[in-house]
Amino acid sequence: MITATEIKELREQIKTWRMQGLKIAFVPTMGNLHDGHLALVKAAHQHADKVVVSIFINPMQFGLSEDIDNYPKTHQQDKEKLISEKTDLLFLPSSKVIYPKGFTDNTFVEVPNISNLYCGKSRPGHFRGVATVVCKLFNLVQPDVACFGSKDYQQLQIIQTMVDDLSMPVDIIPVEIIREASGLAMSSRNGYLTAEEKQQAPVLYKTLQWLAKQLKSGDNSHNHHRLCQQATNIINKAGLTTDYINICHAYTLAESTPEDKNLVILASAFCGKARLIDNIRVDL
Ligand code: PAF
Repeated sequence: MITATEIKELREQIKTWRMQGLKIAFVPTMGNLHDGHLALVKAAHQHADKVVVSIFINPMQFGLSEDIDNYPKTHQQDKEKLISEKTDLLFLPSSKVIYPKGFTDNTFVEVPNISNLYCGKSRPGHFRGVATVVCKLFNLVQPDVACFGSKDYQQLQIIQTMVDDLSMPVDIIPVEIIREASGLAMSSRNGYLTAEEKQQAPVLYKTLQWLAKQLKSGDNSHNHHRLCQQATNIINKAGLTTDYINICHAYTLAESTPEDKNLVILASAFCGKARLIDNIRVDL
């Protein structure tokens, strides 16, 4: 695996592959890699000849109250995992390489409306930071395809909207959520859970499954608000603190109407210090 820390090295390698007519897939990450990330790398191999992974803890997507300095950095382990998944190139830039002027003075990309809902409401500016860094990374790597995890469903829709709105020549590949045996969606944040919280956390997915079943059963289908309220009570009773739980249109993420047939249930809840997110698609 080649490791590039500078833009020049990255661009030279990409140019060489392009001249050889090779197809490039890209997986952007913030490191601390788990099986969910490795599933993205596996998916990337199915779509291209060469796979580029980036590890960059993007300061622009962290709020003032969020502790970026304590975000886990596990570069050595990450490298070993990427080598075992036959990654071709790891792009590991410093903050100075990505934001030479500092990120507060950087041009930004903002996908309107959808960025201010749900997680965007709880984390103002977060999705502006995500869209900006992904746009910049796309310009650097110039991939044919890029793989994103479906756990971050809102992020995925925001990236897809950015790509469509700005006519970016990259196909976005959504990759299925990878779960622990308990049903808990894999996430770097699971590392913050204590042993007791690990027992409580799976209630989030179990409740989403219950909610999906209610929607599919047809009963209550006109009462989405009440169903979400019931789900919130179940989650909170199990010791978590729900941030939001919403039944939405699967593509616009607007709150669902009784006519909508393609739905996604989006949820976020605090379990101790960890802010967990999860979702489930429901087609009626
Ligand atoms: O999902 C993530 O890990 C990040 O938001 C991403 C897409 C790598 C941008 O920093």
